[in-house]
Amino acid sequence: MKRSIIITGGAGFIGSHVVRLFVNKYPEYKIINLDKLTYAGNLANLRDIEDRPNYRFVKMDICDFEGVLKLMQEEHVDGIIHLAAESHVDRSIKDPFTFAQTNVMGTLSLLQAAKAYWEPMGWQMQHCAVPCRFYHISTDEVYGALEMTHPEGIEPPFTTKASSGKHHLAYGEKFFTEDLKYQPHSPYSAAKASSDHFVRAFHDTFGMPTIVTNCSNNYGPYQFPEKLIPLFINNIRHRKPLPVYGKGENVRDWLYVEDHARAIDVIFHQGKIAETYNIGGFNEWKNIDIIKVLINTVDRLLGRPEGADMDLITYVTDRAGHDLRYAIDSSKLQRELGWEPSLQFEEGIEKTVRWYLDNQAWMDNVTSGDYQKYYEDMYKNR
Ligand code: NAD
Ligand code: DAU
Repeated sequence: MKRSIIITGGAGFIGSHVVRLFVNKYPEYKIINLDKLTYAGNLANLRDIEDRPNYRFVKMDICDFEGVLKLMQEEHVDGIIHLAAESHVDRSIKDPFTFAQTNVMGTLSLLQAAKAYWEPMGWQMQHCAVPCRFYHISTDEVYGALEMTHPEGIEPPFTTKASSGKHHLAYGEKFFTEDLKYQPHSPYSAAKASSDHFVRAFHDTFGMPTIVTNCSNNYGPYQFPEKLIPLFINNIRHRKPLPVYGKGENVRDWLYVEDHARAIDVIFHQGKIAETYNIGGFNEWKNIDIIKVLINTVDRLLGRPEGADMDLITYVTDRAGHDLRYAIDSSKLQRELGWEPSLQFEEGIEKTVRWYLDNQAWMDNVTSGDYQKYYEDMYKNR
């Protein structure tokens, strides 16, 4: 079946993995990467697939209603996988307006363009056997923060059982499930929550075939080094201080980015219209414990005595409104669509550290700012 799909934010961290997966796995699909190339967009993330005949890059702002509509008409687009967003919580604290503009207004503009193109065709295009689909990628942060409660006499992390039947370690008794009410705390998560509401409203009001997924923290290759894991790997390598917010006691639930991309593939093709699916690997870690794993791994791989760089840990002022604990219950996705994470965390983190150490040129290109010239050099002669 031939399809024509726009992936927004495809030059970013998760988007680049989704684009790569779709371009490789579906040579019969046309994959259009629509990205504004903000500071977070880096076309070098896609160097290995940029010449494929089923791939096209379009530099465009999701807020450009006319541009998106024209592109959809030109390419007969029957699906949108929407990842473009401002994604860093610390930036949202300094500049909330940009987050409202991109995450809320940008998503609304994209929805309006899709509606203008698809609604007159009854939400189904002739070339495609299934209805059009607007798939919105969101975050677990919209649910707010969880407590660190534990059964009497048992210190966290303790073993518990998810409704899917899987046993896993947890720092609290409650989890984010799809039916929880939204309680975002940061300007980033407030803007993502608002965009989720708009997507659902377009289904409920106009009948647009939509899907929303909420995923936990991703890690892996090509993540912008403002986020905890790539920032700290790079700092350890260069023996620079590691700024740990507060006491480092906050808990995050980590998923390898390629497992998220695989979940997006499964849900795009088999997910039920109007449904929400949580995506996560039942993999909770305190920040400080992850940081110690990163130090030991980088030291070992660089031939330094393991743990030699523990003195780089520097406790700094906490992030304002810092959410204490995130923990996703992805039982619904595992039960209904059979998706499961493929990597154990220990394996994923080793692979990730190796990737950043082996790809120092990628990191240097980003930290020097040179990556932003890649588009100009690459596309000026086309
Ligand atoms: P990222 O910051 O690495 O990439 C964002 C991409 O969007 C960049 O390529 C950027 O150029 C593009 N972009 C930004 N504004 C745009 C605009 N106005 N028009 C077009 N393109 C624009 O983000 P990420 O970490 O890959 O996250 C991708 C999506 O997944 C986001 O929607 C985020 O909320 C969500 N998410 C991220 C995580 C995570 O751990 N990183 C977890 C769950 C959900
Ligand atoms: O939960 C999903 C979310 O995960 C995504 O929606 C966001 O786009 C993504 O950025 C991520 O948000 P976090 O705020 O959890 O990720 P970050 O890497 O910024 O921080 C992870 C934890 O590490 C968090 O508790 C803050 C802490 N931290 C972070 C940085 C950058 C530090 O202690 N020091 C730091 O320098």
